[in-house]
Amino acid sequence: MNPIDRLLREKIGLDAASVGSSSIERIVRRRMKSLGLKKIEEYQRLLESRSCAQGRDEWEELVESVVVTETWFFRDRDPFTALVQLVRCEWLPQHSTGPLRLLSLPCSSGEEPYSLAMALLDADIPPERFTIDAVDVSARALARAQRGVYGKNSFRGKGLDFRGRYFQAAPDGHALHPRVRDCVQFHRANIFEEQFLAGRAAYDFIFCRNLLIYFDGAAQTRALEKVHRLLAPQGVLFVGPAELPLAIRHGFVSANVPMAFACRRAGEATRPPPVRRERAPRAPKFVAPLMPAASTPISAGKQAQRPAAAGAAPPSQADLAAARQLADAGELAAAAAICQAHLDRQGPSAQAFYLLGLVHDSGGDPQAMDYYRKALYLEPDHFESLLQMSLLLEKNGDSVGARTFKRRAERVQQKP
Ligand SMILES: C[S@@+](CC[C@H](N)C(=O)[O-])C[C@H]1O[C@@H](n2cnc3c(N)ncnc32)[C@H](O)[C@@H]1O
Repeated sequence: MNPIDRLLREKIGLDAASVGSSSIERIVRRRMKSLGLKKIEEYQRLLESRSCAQGRDEWEELVESVVVTETWFFRDRDPFTALVQLVRCEWLPQHSTGPLRLLSLPCSSGEEPYSLAMALLDADIPPERFTIDAVDVSARALARAQRGVYGKNSFRGKGLDFRGRYFQAAPDGHALHPRVRDCVQFHRANIFEEQFLAGRAAYDFIFCRNLLIYFDGAAQTRALEKVHRLLAPQGVLFVGPAELPLAIRHGFVSANVPMAFACRRAGEATRPPPVRRERAPRAPKFVAPLMPAASTPISAGKQAQRPAAAGAAPPSQADLAAARQLADAGELAAAAAICQAHLDRQGPSAQAFYLLGLVHDSGGDPQAMDYYRKALYLEPDHFESLLQMSLLLEKNGDSVGARTFKRRAERVQQKP
């Protein structure tokens, strides 16, 4: 491993392979050129000399260049709906006083913690009843968060009615209403610092989504230990779609909230009953549009047959919903079996292939990509498959391919 990759892994947990070693190499070359350095060892020495201001500044510059700060409001939607239900059905009845404590880690440029605030305000929970801490290692992302002005990439999917309620048009985007801004306290910190959030009271809900996917196994373990310590005994942790199996391997159990990727600390004496799934009244879930098959076939999808565009019965979604629930609960083999049975019975289905992709992805199986491609062969605009393809390619070091899929996903979102 090259010394800079090693340093990034040690200090911020970054697994170079997750963002592509070649893109880190490019960043390092660019940094060295701007500093007039020829040898990687000289750059390494500079980064390690953190007692001098130049070394510290350069380390920060490097971190800012390598972190992936991609995020948007109400990302994945269901976790926010689940949070509101859990607060209403469990937390409020058990706490007549005192604030509900939430943590968004990492918060990037603020879309996630502000979405938490908007979801709670929409549920008529007054700001004095909750506190939201939001933490990230990136000073630049935090500066954007504190400014609170967002461009179109922060608003994706279809349920954007919250924008009309909580934002005002500004010359360079949409400015968040101070009422929401004031609900969030931002902090700059690296989860691997020894004193990370030391002395804080435990949190009732932690959103730790799309962080572990950038770490190697050892860093995932260290990070999950910290999160475990920060979560109240009856608290709920929300992770990203591919991260639930990791949490379950590290001291958490599924909270059995479909599609929310939520879990609780394992072994707590009283575990509240599972939460029914309901839609949030003013924040409808984004559903990937079912588009007619129209684009160029992709070779890996050869085995998939496109369904007849007209007259074909829509596939039953019930078993796929069950498969999704099982995948969400970390029951990957059972989820895969249901998807396979669905395919055998109903014929090709983009959603079944997508779920199989997700299941294989969670286990780090390269076959995941074939499944996403099959989904996209059937439904070229299958938004979630486009996103997962982009993430997987980035992880495999194919930044150009990743960008292509990301752009396709963005185009899908921009469609009326
Ligand atoms: C893809 S964003 C996720 C944001 C949000 N949670 C979401 O799911 O949309 C990943 C964030 O992790 C932050 N990050 C990476 N390593 C970190 C570390 N060691 N400590 C704290 N934050 C870190 C990055 O700066 C980046 O903003």
